Amino acid sequence: MKEGSTDRSAVGDVLCVVLAAGEGTRMRSATPKVLHKIAGLSMVGHVVAAIEQSGVTGVAAVIGPDRDDVSDEISSRFTGASIHVQTERLGTAHAVLAARERLETHAGPVVVLFGDTPLITPELVSNIATELATGADIVVVGFEAADPTGYGRLIIEDDAVTAIREHRDATEKERQITLCNSGVMGFGAGALPALLDAVGNDNAKGEFYLTDAVEIGRQRGLSTRVVVANSVEVMGVNDRVQLAEAEALMQDRLRRSAMMNGVTMVDPKSIMLSYDSVIEHDVQMESQIWIGPGVTIHSGALIKSFCHIEQSIIGYSSQVGPYARLRPGTVLGDGVRIGNFVETKAAQISQGAKVNHLSYIGDASVGMDANIGAGTITCNYDGHAKHRTTIGDEAFIGSNSSLVAPISIGERAYVGSGSVITHDVPSETLAVGRGRQRNIEGWQKLKRS
Ligand code: UD1
Ligand code: CA
Repeated sequence: MKEGSTDRSAVGDVLCVVLAAGEGTRMRSATPKVLHKIAGLSMVGHVVAAIEQSGVTGVAAVIGPDRDDVSDEISSRFTGASIHVQTERLGTAHAVLAARERLETHAGPVVVLFGDTPLITPELVSNIATELATGADIVVVGFEAADPTGYGRLIIEDDAVTAIREHRDATEKERQITLCNSGVMGFGAGALPALLDAVGNDNAKGEFYLTDAVEIGRQRGLSTRVVVANSVEVMGVNDRVQLAEAEALMQDRLRRSAMMNGVTMVDPKSIMLSYDSVIEHDVQMESQIWIGPGVTIHSGALIKSFCHIEQSIIGYSSQVGPYARLRPGTVLGDGVRIGNFVETKAAQISQGAKVNHLSYIGDASVGMDANIGAGTITCNYDGHAKHRTTIGDEAFIGSNSSLVAPISIGERAYVGSGSVITHDVPSETLAVGRGRQRNIEGWQKLKRS
């Protein structure tokens, strides 16, 4: 067996318990905390995605009562996740025990994670699995906190963690410790239910602390290990200020990875990406660009400043912007040009076509090398329903034309500027739909007399 493949199989055997029952009062929100988004994906979605990428095959999520929204989010991100409801919020150990049924039927090790730590990485999950697979009974993920206030402190004796002391329960001396508990913990096969049953709630908060499992485990002769994580990776989000901090850190991570993969960003800090953005090598991005979820940008494309793009595909060597808005369902072929103040929605725009200025192209398909003049509008909505516009290859739509859908413009058809087109235009045909111009000679003189 190759090195590394051993790790992978160790990871597969792990069950991850995700605690997501907190109501998150400090968010001051009607939305549960773990559903607040970072880079277009819920925090708990990020946690579950990291678990999946690590190769772990089992997830048990603990949620609050009547939280179908949280349950749906987790299930949609991790097929086969079991959902457990913690009816009363009595502490982290109590929360893990809500999943008792699943824990008791699971033969392998268990990793506990929190749903409000969106920056967690697959590597961290697999590191814990490796520690558990190589003999540790309990693994604690610690980090060095610049300001440890509020965190549980790791009590280390003879190179091993013997206890975790919650801030409120710590002595002044223990509060000097800066190595803190991230909340992520691993437990060897079968150990957890018995440890948690022994946890009491005789502490400052009157809660059943998961962290007490460390001291209980030591007393029972179990071995403990600490994995020290980067403080960014285990950052928890409790309010909107931390939500914004986590967003900034996630954006840095996404931009870095895009640039390392060959994307040019002139002004990285002004570009916002999504968790699932696919941006290929040799894409160039100017400044002030928003990339929402579901976007793929193929090689060689140029995204100019001030663009807003969601659920769209941008073909090879296409150019978009400045000031373009690509809404969901936009598919640009190769070498397409979308210019300033153009909005597209559910639009397939084929190779070489140009929509360069001030247009709305919605519920439409535009053929290869077609030219859509400035100010062209597809009138897709009649007040009741949406209708489609089809424009053939090499068609030419003159400036300031309204195409009233449903409508079809044939190949190499030509629409005169300022037309309102309400009937289909066959291929090769000129259509003009506007008032005929009349010149009245000497009109100014007539008016004066
Ligand atoms: C916890 C740790 C602390 C650590 C810190 C890191 C414990 C006792 N303390 O403290 O050592 O330094 O995280 O951020 O574990 N939850 C439930 N049900 C409950 C209680 C909590 O699902 O009954 C969930 C919360 O939604 C949250 C997580 O568990 O996602 C942590 O709970 P919280 O009360 O925020 O713990 P901290 O005080 O931050
Ligand atoms: Ca917390």
